[in-house]
Amino acid sequence: MLRKKINQIIGAAFSECGYEGNFSEVINCKLPELGDFSSVGALPAAKQFKKPPREIAQEIVNKLEGNPLFENIRIDGPGYINMKVTGTFLADSLKEMLDSANLACTDGKKEMIIVDYGGANVAKPLHVGHLRAAIIGECLRRVAKFRGHDVVGDVHLGDWGLQMGMIIHELSLRHPEWAYFDESADTFPAEAPVNIEDLETLYPTASKKSKEDEDYLNACRKATTELHAGRKGYRALWRHVVNVSVADLKSDYSRLLVNFDLWLGESDAHQYLDMLIDRFIKEGYAKESDGALIVEVAEETDNHNVPPVILRKSDGAALYHATDIATIYERVKDYDPSIILYVVDKRQSLHFEQVFRCVRKTKLVRDDVVLRHIPFGTMNGTDGKPFKTREGGTLKLKELITTVTEKAFSKLVDGGYGASLSDDEKRYVAECVGIAALKFGDLSNTCARDYIFELDRFLEFEGKTGPYLLYSAVRAKSILAKAGADDITATDLKEPASTEEFNLMLALQAFPEACEMSFRNREPMVLCEYGYNIAASFSSMYAKTNIIRETDTERKKAMLALVKAYLRVIEAVLDLLGIKAPERM
Ligand code: ARG
Repeated sequence: MLRKKINQIIGAAFSECGYEGNFSEVINCKLPELGDFSSVGALPAAKQFKKPPREIAQEIVNKLEGNPLFENIRIDGPGYINMKVTGTFLADSLKEMLDSANLACTDGKKEMIIVDYGGANVAKPLHVGHLRAAIIGECLRRVAKFRGHDVVGDVHLGDWGLQMGMIIHELSLRHPEWAYFDESADTFPAEAPVNIEDLETLYPTASKKSKEDEDYLNACRKATTELHAGRKGYRALWRHVVNVSVADLKSDYSRLLVNFDLWLGESDAHQYLDMLIDRFIKEGYAKESDGALIVEVAEETDNHNVPPVILRKSDGAALYHATDIATIYERVKDYDPSIILYVVDKRQSLHFEQVFRCVRKTKLVRDDVVLRHIPFGTMNGTDGKPFKTREGGTLKLKELITTVTEKAFSKLVDGGYGASLSDDEKRYVAECVGIAALKFGDLSNTCARDYIFELDRFLEFEGKTGPYLLYSAVRAKSILAKAGADDITATDLKEPASTEEFNLMLALQAFPEACEMSFRNREPMVLCEYGYNIAASFSSMYAKTNIIRETDTERKKAMLALVKAYLRVIEAVLDLLGIKAPERM
């Protein structure tokens, strides 16, 4: 907020002094003792107008002299203009932000954005990549929505791959008498013949067998192809398996505070595949190669090998490339999005490069549609290898949530937190803390980086952690509750009475910038840094004051208004990160 206003003022000063150009942008002052914001515009202006930079800086400073918004303006170094803003200007800007819709975070234009994230595979165990996809994607979805866009988050389930053929084939061996395997059968039981526990053992068994037995694997492939082709009994059984698996996934994801708008899967795009393939053949994009149908997507300027997209293999089964291409067709048809984001493991970068090139080449999307893969790195264990559960198996979301909750519970008890809470409340708080630790630990790294899952560190109540942010929000809530601050509003804000209050206000009013940057760069980490920053400023402010005992009522009101402002911003940050703060802890 402040920055935008100052940019305008500086920009105007440069043009009034006869320096037309792009000199308005100010940055945060690197040395706070010199100012809050810095303009470095005099340097490029000096080059352009062939004058010493300090001379230009002086002219600008003369122009700004007497502007009531600045407490102090000075020239440092080669010609930096360092500005300190007045407390009134700061408090007014903060009030403006608090008064505006969405804390001034709304984007000027509304876009239709699809976020493809989660990507869990039906009947197959989740792995840490799926956990990251869910956590990062959820944050990006929330940020886009908060900024006023039309956003649709789609889980894009892997519900159409070889694992489905494996489950079908394995069940056909175990229960050959089931109607699902009778090719002449037309009606099938309404009740699912398997439950989630069955599914948990079925896939590993089938997967093991297919590695050891070629015939078994071929039978699984055949079942997959027949499923795709529409064999009735297989489709009915498959539907049951998907439903059972989805019900389980929904409960896990909701505990993780991950909410999808759409529960579509790879199978949903299947209906468009034949039509698209015919079209690609007719339009000359697709060709036969070694029994497969492909689209060349290599470009002359490539400095790495980009193999062709494979639409269909000789056995006829639908493929990952083809499915993603058909899904883009479906999304364009149903939503006409201007942006599609794919929050998927960085090891799939080539896949997306191929798919994006193919849909552009074949004109399936308008040229201005943004297709973007948000690649993320691996969550590693302390041994530096991809994280595994204690038993060495793949991740089970339920188990992971239980582990973090239990650890959080003992941390809370050891730290003397929540002593007055009932056992049920404590368990609720422990889950909030555990999930905050897990998510913040993940989101506070740039997406593309691999990181080490250090649960003990993530659970600390001090430092850059989820629990630290959570605790500071709860502390703000408790101050406000104790002081009975229901009637306090932003209008009660006064100019800051100390450096700590000044710094907190300065940090708070920068929220729209952090939100915008996180959105533009598709980086939740920006919001983590920002959240930590305001939480630390709040702690310093809080340590310096005794709000509850303050006897000057106006002053007390102003302080409570600042606490309330802090709470509003930190809650917005936590919400964007997909973290829930309890009322007390
Ligand atoms: N199910 C896939 C996997 O487990 C991830 C799906 C990602 N999204 C996509 N549109 N391909 O690897």
